[in-house]
Amino acid sequence: MVQRTSGSGVEDLKSQLNIVDVIGRVVPLKRAGSNYKGVCPFHNEKTPSFVVSDQKQIYTCFGCGASGDVIGFTMKYYNLDFMEACEKLGRENGIEVNFAKSDNNKDKARLYEINREAARFFYKALTEKANPGYTYMKKRGMEDAILKKFGIGYADREWDSLYKHLKSKGYEDKDLIDLGLASRGKDGKIYDKFRHRVIFPIINTSGKVIGFGGRRIDDNDNPKYLNSPENAIFQKKNNLYALNTTKQEIGREGNAILVEGYMDVISLYQHGVKNVAASLGTALTENQARLLKRYTGNVILCYDADNAGINAALRGVDILVPQGLKVKVFHVTDGKDPDEYAKTHGKEGFMKLAKDASPAVQYKLDSAMKGLDVSKDDEKLEYIRKAADILRRLSPVEMDIYVRSLAENLKVSERAILAEIESESNKPPEPVRRQTDESTDLKLSPLEGNVISAILTNPDLTEQLFEDPGVMESPFAKKIENLFFELFGSKGEFDIGDLNDRLDPEESQALTRELNGIILAGKEEDILRESIDKWKLSNLRKREKDIVNKMDLADESDMGQEMLESLTRELMNIQKEIKKYGGKE
Ligand code: CTP
Ligand code: MN
Repeated sequence: MVQRTSGSGVEDLKSQLNIVDVIGRVVPLKRAGSNYKGVCPFHNEKTPSFVVSDQKQIYTCFGCGASGDVIGFTMKYYNLDFMEACEKLGRENGIEVNFAKSDNNKDKARLYEINREAARFFYKALTEKANPGYTYMKKRGMEDAILKKFGIGYADREWDSLYKHLKSKGYEDKDLIDLGLASRGKDGKIYDKFRHRVIFPIINTSGKVIGFGGRRIDDNDNPKYLNSPENAIFQKKNNLYALNTTKQEIGREGNAILVEGYMDVISLYQHGVKNVAASLGTALTENQARLLKRYTGNVILCYDADNAGINAALRGVDILVPQGLKVKVFHVTDGKDPDEYAKTHGKEGFMKLAKDASPAVQYKLDSAMKGLDVSKDDEKLEYIRKAADILRRLSPVEMDIYVRSLAENLKVSERAILAEIESESNKPPEPVRRQTDESTDLKLSPLEGNVISAILTNPDLTEQLFEDPGVMESPFAKKIENLFFELFGSKGEFDIGDLNDRLDPEESQALTRELNGIILAGKEEDILRESIDKWKLSNLRKREKDIVNKMDLADESDMGQEMLESLTRELMNIQKEIKKYGGKE
């Protein structure tokens, strides 16, 4: 695979090649004005109509319509796929096309495999015979079906049972340590990291086991939860617990309920609230927000009712809203967290609270009032200042709504509140809401949007895009396509988070906007196929028109019978193809 040393890998390779040299080695070319001309290698012709542009770094055959860049030419001429063509070009032109990336790819595949094996080991330990993990989960009311659904496991009390198991499968110490499954003690021996804990495997939306959370079973001084460390395949900031299992339900319900903990998720799920996910105990990140946005535009935060939970919700709102998500917030009113609430009040009780969740702005206004007695003038003033800070960022209509209700509740004039909002003298400037970028170069055609969505949902489909790399036509789509190829080459699997890591903020925002509203409904493979076919068909139509135009010209000029015959043959071929892709002649 192409090494990405800097910038975009495919572009790097291309920038070091001249298409005239590459093609010139196999097709004799003659200078013709600013271009080069030769006999087309892709169809039978005597008069050269194959043109290579030094300036544009593309080739076009005016006889058969073949055209593309240096990689496209190499693919077509040698009948190679995209990666093979890149490899060949690198090899033959002394450009460092580093295979370390595919090693890297193998590394990751092996790490996923080890995690899967570990998950299986833990799961067997919990399900196959009596053990403290199972007893603990039963005590917490979890049913067998749920333990199975989420692949819950048990790490036993031994010091090295997982380690021995994985070694017997031939895995290396280094990998086990990197994954945080084992660690080397002071005595130099290697020990299991998770011991006597209930294990929650963390699985990404492509179904790969990327890490584990382990809950302490006995009350002791050990940390309540132990989580896998960040490593080559586990980045907390890019993932949400359980989303792999719940994403369909989230799509169906039209909203996601975000909670803090593993137990909250599985307990709610057992009670029938299935559109849930958890943020892995950390503050929400932008990437997690974008990940969610793939499945829904609405998020309901239900964090613990304690101070930490309230603060996390407030921060969460500020992460989610700028990503264009509609956010509501509520806390359970009984018990410390959603798990406890669901146990005592069931789905009905929980959904009733969820239904009355506060819109984000109202939630922020309400929290700003905490600890203030607004019947006292000075505290009322303090509250109005805080409220003004919140309202200042809103759209005029939203602002109007809240100013009215605030004025009424506080018995002050709307004008006074508006004045407070406008007086920024004693405040640092508020972050201005970024205007969504409508510039044409960050746009996708509907077809491109579908293709990108399909591949983000199932990265394995990237291979199909390799076969028809021309589908992406706009510059923005091409950039994303190149990133797909790189991510696929280097990681094998990836998601919106990985992609966003490689895009500028404006670009990822534009991507979010452009993909907004595309619903694949589990049909990503069909949609990709259809999109590619549609693209092929429209290309064929273009070529058809092109040839018809040329035939008109040939009629008028002295192009000759031969040219006319070859054009006719081409036209017939194209019309055959058009039929094949479902078009009418
Ligand atoms: N967490 C963690 N490490 C800790 C404590 C918490 O990673 N030492 C994360 C876990 O993801 C946990 C979440 O934060 O699920 C919420 O923590 P907490 O509310 O303390 O735990 P619960 O999910 O309520 O777990 P339990 O019901 O088992 O006590
Ligand atoms: Mn809990």
